[in-house]
Amino acid sequence: MYLSLQRVSKTFDGERPVQALAEVSFDIRQGEFVSLIGQSGSGKSTLCNLIAGLLTPDSGEIRLDGRLINGQTGHVGYMPQRDLLMPWRTVLQNVILGAEIARQPLEQARRRARALLPLFGLEGFADAYPRQLSGGMRQRAALLRTILMERSLLLLDEPFGALDALTRREMQNWLLMVWAQLQPTVLFVTHDVREAALLSDRILVLSARPGRLIADVPVALPRPRCESDEAFLRLQAQLLGALAT
Ligand SMILES: Nc1ncnc2c1ncn2[C@@H]1O[C@H](COP(=O)(O)OP(=O)(O)OP(=O)(O)O)[C@@H](O)[C@H]1O
Ligand SMILES: [Mg+2]
Repeated sequence: MYLSLQRVSKTFDGERPVQALAEVSFDIRQGEFVSLIGQSGSGKSTLCNLIAGLLTPDSGEIRLDGRLINGQTGHVGYMPQRDLLMPWRTVLQNVILGAEIARQPLEQARRRARALLPLFGLEGFADAYPRQLSGGMRQRAALLRTILMERSLLLLDEPFGALDALTRREMQNWLLMVWAQLQPTVLFVTHDVREAALLSDRILVLSARPGRLIADVPVALPRPRCESDEAFLRLQAQLLGALAT
């Protein structure tokens, strides 16, 4: 898996056109956990929609393993910012939705889903409905659905944005554990600098609108990371500084 963006730009037309992204270029390699940070309105979700093929760039190229995928859906696993689960489907029916849409064999998808429920903290909840789950459980179910799409790249748009601070911390640790086990390639959107510093191999920083890439910061700190370490604090300060420009 190799994702490459070359000078990708996007403007939304309308009475007052909005330029969301300006000439954004970056690469993501196999197995990397890359975070994308930027202020509200800097184009993070737009960038995800472009990579997922739900939007087409005005100019520039998006390539997956060298192949041009501008405007093409179906290549990446995408968990949009506002997910969510379908209230009338059970957990199991929700998480195999991707397989259903891709017309894959359902029995196999159910088996794989059931096998992963414990890792996602959903053991015993296969037949529960979303309303019967906590906020964290719902996010984990949505994440399991994304992972079961079996794409080589996962796009996660602020997956923990709506959670309380404590649940969010638990989910971050849990995600690190899942990532260590399954080793997916991840593009993780957040506007929480601490979250990005805690999780990532590399952090991309977008400027305020129109979003331009203003920093590409490798994170060499070993995991699990300690937030009171001097190096961690320095990284956070560096990111906050970049965001302020
Ligand atoms: N479908 C659309 N039509 C018109 N304008 C849009 C559309 N989607 C996004 N925009 C505009 O593009 C800009 C970037 O929006 P986007 O949702 O990508 O930001 P974001 O970085 O994800 O913000 P947040 O952190 O609040 O989620 C905003 O000014 C937004 O109003
Ligand atoms: Mg967004």
